[in-house]
Amino acid sequence: MATPDDTTWDLDPHTEAKHVIIREYLKAWYPICTGGQFKEFTYAEGFSGPGIYKGGEPGSPVVALDVFLRRSELLRPAQRLNVLLIEKRDDRVEELRRQVSRKLDEYGGRPAQMKITFREDDCTTALLPALQELSPRRSPFFAVLDGWGGPDAIPLDIARSAANRPGGEVLVTFQPQHLVRFATVETRAQAGDRCFGSDAWRAVVDQPKDMKKKFLVDCYRKSLFDAGFGYVASFEMRDEHKNELHLVFASNHPKGLIKMKEAMWKVDKQQGFMFRDPRDPAQLAFFFEEKPELGPLRRALLSKLEEGPTEVEKLRDFALRETVYRDSHAGTLLKDLFKEGIIESSTGRVPRKQDRVWLAKQTPPSTQPQQGTLF
Ligand SMILES: C[S@@+](CC[C@H](N)C(=O)[O-])C[C@H]1O[C@@H](n2cnc3c(N)ncnc32)[C@H](O)[C@@H]1O
Repeated sequence: MATPDDTTWDLDPHTEAKHVIIREYLKAWYPICTGGQFKEFTYAEGFSGPGIYKGGEPGSPVVALDVFLRRSELLRPAQRLNVLLIEKRDDRVEELRRQVSRKLDEYGGRPAQMKITFREDDCTTALLPALQELSPRRSPFFAVLDGWGGPDAIPLDIARSAANRPGGEVLVTFQPQHLVRFATVETRAQAGDRCFGSDAWRAVVDQPKDMKKKFLVDCYRKSLFDAGFGYVASFEMRDEHKNELHLVFASNHPKGLIKMKEAMWKVDKQQGFMFRDPRDPAQLAFFFEEKPELGPLRRALLSKLEEGPTEVEKLRDFALRETVYRDSHAGTLLKDLFKEGIIESSTGRVPRKQDRVWLAKQTPPSTQPQQGTLF
């Protein structure tokens, strides 16, 4: 899609899917924040947009507000929820203010514990100072960074700062084709360096054509790990013209990753990482297949088990951290493998989280060390 010039523009299926992910994630994030020990927490959007689409559909800041307002009773009297909305175009900020106040009216006004801050500014320079001013304490903060053509509009410093806060998380819109195009244009490439935190990504020019985009997504995931995050997940979307858009999520908490994967799998029940535009006729079948395609994870688990007996917990963690799958998918597969007689478990029963498992043809590990092996 060409960058729109009007205040509002048409909602495309990509964006709708992105909104489902944001909504579903916040439905988990918000009760976790209100139910915890935190006195305050912040939801931020660096590229807010006008809060409404041409057809009247809500923009992401309004989607988020709806989640918070729908359950405003969860906010304890002494808690504060900051909503920080940054947008650089004045006409869009004006529209956003209108849409936010319409949403607040729908729920009878703004709860006293909620503070909404609008900034007509450039996210790259305004986000961190605004966050520091609003919330100088190291409290949880979730930032949606949904620029156009990004992520070269998003310096890695923002992610670094989020990674340094307990409960700091980011969801970044990542468009690889844009970076493939600009890797050799020096001024644009320098913006890329700020986004990745180094110039290693420029090696994209040496990659085979069909590997370039994957190379960039992998580079960006690595940058987020280097920024200090412990958990990173990405979700691919494609439109009818085969343009790719990735959402990359980073968190310091496994629960963040578990909840984000649940949200992503709500958009794509089959593979969990790929939303494809329904206007693309070749992809229609994709949508009607409700059963997740677990084949790749099954093969990966079997290959892990080839290395020897291991804990179910470790295999679940492997699925969560290193694949597109959820930890519960690994649990389900291990139960199936047990019932098929392909693996055995330390209890001799269907394996649970705390059990060890191994391939049936392998020698089970003894619980008591053999005399000879002690020395
Ligand atoms: C993809 S749209 C955001 C859509 C919105 N997140 C949603 O889902 O409804 C990107 C927005 O970022 C704004 N923008 C672009 N560059 C920006 C910057 N450097 N700082 C702040 N806003 C920016 C654009 O004006 C546009 O409204």
